[in-house]
Amino acid sequence: MILKLLIFCSLLFSNFAADASNSTEKVLHCQKGFKLYDRVPTDRNRNTSHWCMKLDLFSQSENLYLCPQVVEHSDVYDRPTARSVCMDYDAVITNVENQKELDDVNALIRDNNKRVAVDGVFNPKCRSFDDWKMRKFGGLCDKRKELFILEDDHTDPTFIFGKWAGEPPTASDKYKEKGDDVDIYTIAECLSLHNLAAINTTGNLKDFLCGEEPDKQVGEVPFFGVLCGCEPE
Ligand SMILES: *[C@@H]1O[C@H](CO)[C@@H](O)[C@H](O)[C@H]1NC(C)=O
Ligand SMILES: *[C@@H]1O[C@H](CO)[C@@H](O)[C@H](O)[C@H]1NC(C)=O
Ligand SMILES: *[C@@H]1O[C@H](CO)[C@@H](O)[C@H](O)[C@H]1NC(C)=O
Repeated sequence: MILKLLIFCSLLFSNFAADASNSTEKVLHCQKGFKLYDRVPTDRNRNTSHWCMKLDLFSQSENLYLCPQVVEHSDVYDRPTARSVCMDYDAVITNVENQKELDDVNALIRDNNKRVAVDGVFNPKCRSFDDWKMRKFGGLCDKRKELFILEDDHTDPTFIFGKWAGEPPTASDKYKEKGDDVDIYTIAECLSLHNLAAINTTGNLKDFLCGEEPDKQVGEVPFFGVLCGCEPE
C-alpha cells in the first residue's frame, strides 16, 4: 500500500514537473552588469526574442577592466578596440533595436554628454561607387536600408536606421569636383549615438571616422563607451 502510494506520488510529481517545465517559460538571466531586453523576432535579427546589453563605461572602470592602461574614454573610436572591450565580457558590439533600448542608452549619453560606439559599418557594396566616395544614397545604399550593415545579427536595424541625426554621411566631407555640380561625399566608416540635446534633431545616430581620434577632428565629440550585447543564459 505504502509502495503504491509512493509510486503514485512520484508519478504525480514527475507529471507535475514535466507540466511545469513545459508550461512555465525558462527564466532567462543576463550576466552581471547586463540588462535583459525583450525583442520582437524578425528575419533581420535572426528571430532574436531576448538580448542582454551593457554600456561599458571607461570613466567608471572600477572592476572587471582588463585594460586599465587605456586612457579614459579615448579608445573606442577604434573599432577593433571597441570589439575587444565587448569581447572581455564574451559579448559583441551591438546596437539598439527599439525605443525602450534607445531611451536607456540616451539616458546614459545625456549624463555623460559624450557619445557611444555602436554596431554598424559602412557596407562594402556601397563603396563600389568609387572607393569611399559616393554621389547617391539610393537603392540598396539608402540610409534606411543597407548603407550601413551590422556585424552582429541579433539586432534588426530597421528602427535605428530611422534615427539618423541628419543625412549620412553626418560626419564626413562633402565636396564638388571641378566642372561637376553634384555633391560628392566621403563616407565615415562606423556608427555612434550622440547626445540628442546637443545636436537637436529627431535622431542621434551618426557615422564617424573609425580609428581617428575625435578630439583631433573639427566638431567631433569624444566617446565614453561602447554598447555591448550577448545572449541570455
Ligand atoms: C514536455 O516536454 C517534453 C520534452 O520536450 C515532452 O517529451 C513532453 O511530452 C511534454 N509534456 C507535456 C505535458 O507537454
Ligand atoms: C525565423 O522563424 C521563422 C518562423 O518560425 C522561420 O521560418 C525562419 O527560418 C526563422 N529565421 C531564422 C533566420 O532563423
Ligand atoms: C532646437 O530645435 C527647436 C525645435 O525645432 C528650436 O526651436 C531650437 O531653436 C533649436 N535649438 C538650437 C540650439 O538649434
